[in-house]
Amino acid sequence: MNGSELTHSLFFREIDQLEQTLEALWQIHQGDAFTAAKNAWLHEQIPSREAFLARMEDYAQHGKPDNLVIRQTHESIQNALEYTSKASGKKQIAMFRNSGWAIHLGDYAAAVHASGNQTILELAAGAGLGTYAVLNHLPAQSKLISMDFDFICTQNAIGIAKALGVEDRTAALCTNHWHMPFEDGVLSTVCTHYGLDETREVPTVLTEIARVLRPGGRFVLVTRMDALVRRGSWFEMFDVGADEALSLMHKLRLTSTPEALIEAAAACGLVLTSRKNYTPEDGHHRILMAFEKTS
Ligand SMILES: C[S@@+](CC[C@H](N)C(=O)[O-])C[C@H]1O[C@@H](n2cnc3c(N)ncnc32)[C@H](O)[C@@H]1O
Repeated sequence: MNGSELTHSLFFREIDQLEQTLEALWQIHQGDAFTAAKNAWLHEQIPSREAFLARMEDYAQHGKPDNLVIRQTHESIQNALEYTSKASGKKQIAMFRNSGWAIHLGDYAAAVHASGNQTILELAAGAGLGTYAVLNHLPAQSKLISMDFDFICTQNAIGIAKALGVEDRTAALCTNHWHMPFEDGVLSTVCTHYGLDETREVPTVLTEIARVLRPGGRFVLVTRMDALVRRGSWFEMFDVGADEALSLMHKLRLTSTPEALIEAAAACGLVLTSRKNYTPEDGHHRILMAFEKTS
């Protein structure tokens, strides 16, 4: 049970304690009861708007891209090793095929594969929907390295690759994307499907992406149009309005608005080459963007 980018920011001085507490609560409570217990604990730690804003200011001033390692429990290791099977990959894919909300998925895969055969790095594999999209259309000579700092997610990517018969061209890397283990300029494409929305230290991630891409290399991402879709309730809880919330997210180096993202990417030499908005009535609004490394 891992905290989110916002809880990690608010508790950055005590992430281990946060993780241990969440894990302990998770062992006792399930579903809504877990959420209620977690919120009660968080409220004890952050009792007021002032305390919330003070923690944010502290992170803005002193937070940094640390070497956060998601420690696996005995149980999560066993889970991860199950996710790595072909049968598990098949189950995941069946679930993805039944979920109609990801109307952008075909366009995302096409944008990732626009340059043909290549070595692709996927950031924030997560539940694997983006991995599935990329691997389902993997060109004959292309290869994917799927990365996440959560071991389970990397093994899930392998299970999906096995189910699609492309495991000989798929590797998984368990590390954080603030310090990518690659030489400068060695990759042709970096992609992420909702990965920037759920990370701290977005400018560092963008700098790393620009560093590992070769000149002319491409960065493709899908992101929510409105960052508050996910984290808005936190700000409401502490009586912070939408504009102030977005400006705080930006100040904390979290994903805020698409415009801020485009500006931060440009500052790293990643220039926007295409953008497509999706505004389904029954789902959150999202954007598919592609950038090119200029030098
Ligand atoms: C919700 S997932 C993204 C969705 C996923 N790509 C999909 O299509 O299903 C977000 C992932 O980002 C990962 N993550 C967050 N911060 C990270 C970091 N600094 N380095 C590596 N992975 C990170 C989390 O472990 C989580 O698995």
